[in-house]
Amino acid sequence: MMTDSQDMTDLAAASSTEKKEHPRRIMTFMRRSSAFTTSQQQGIDDFGEHYLLETENKRFDALAIFGRVAPLTVEIGFGMGYSLITMAEAAPERDFIGIEIHPNGIAQICYEAGQKQLPNLRIIDGDALLMLENYFADSSIDTVQLYFADPWPKKKHHKRRFVQTHNMQLIRQKLKVGGIFHAATDWEHYAQWMLEILDTAEGFSNSAGHGNFAERPDFRPLTKFEVRGQNLGHGVWDVLFRKES
Ligand SMILES: C[S@@+](CC[C@H](N)C(=O)[O-])C[C@H]1O[C@@H](n2cnc3c(N)ncnc32)[C@H](O)[C@@H]1O
Repeated sequence: MMTDSQDMTDLAAASSTEKKEHPRRIMTFMRRSSAFTTSQQQGIDDFGEHYLLETENKRFDALAIFGRVAPLTVEIGFGMGYSLITMAEAAPERDFIGIEIHPNGIAQICYEAGQKQLPNLRIIDGDALLMLENYFADSSIDTVQLYFADPWPKKKHHKRRFVQTHNMQLIRQKLKVGGIFHAATDWEHYAQWMLEILDTAEGFSNSAGHGNFAERPDFRPLTKFEVRGQNLGHGVWDVLFRKES
């Protein structure tokens, strides 16, 4: 989570990167990294070639990547990736792709996946919005998940939140009919924001019924972050929306 002063410094750095990389794009993340741990370095050196997908001028090809066509889950912003590893291990019948821009998280998940030799997981280093636009075909994804996304608490930064009407329409375009968008947050204002946007989003229905948050599904692993929040008395809200058309 961000502190206010860190928030401003990081935001200045982020907007200068933003101008260089995508002149009109609003970034939903802050660039940050620290020196790799030994495991993270090993993650990239030993397992990066296998787990990191080459996406430039390429389109997602399930057969070429996984050697099969199975239900596909895409996680946006997996952080250090522990819950994504747990989910991929628990559901060998599905394939998982995690998208992140945080170098330490990318290196860490490569290490964990390599240690467990997970066959049904691959990683993309990049902005999830660009990847959804350019790498995935329309109607190709079964589930998109977004867990504990940056809440961007200040009003002037709300435009940086990942859940926006136009981003949800991009996700709708990439989901199969019947596919699921699942998000969880411990930030109440963001939770209400998500519910409001999704309840009025064209083409989606709320699996918990209009105006309701979903029960925490068993398949979403409890992360250390969430347990710490629970111990501090923070709430957690899930939204589960189905693409109807
Ligand atoms: C608050 S962290 C939560 C990480 C993890 N999901 C968890 O529950 O611990 C949000 C993560 O989303 C990533 N992120 C935000 N916007 C992104 C984007 N457009 N593409 C890829 N990653 C993004 C950030 O780099 C950050 O690691």
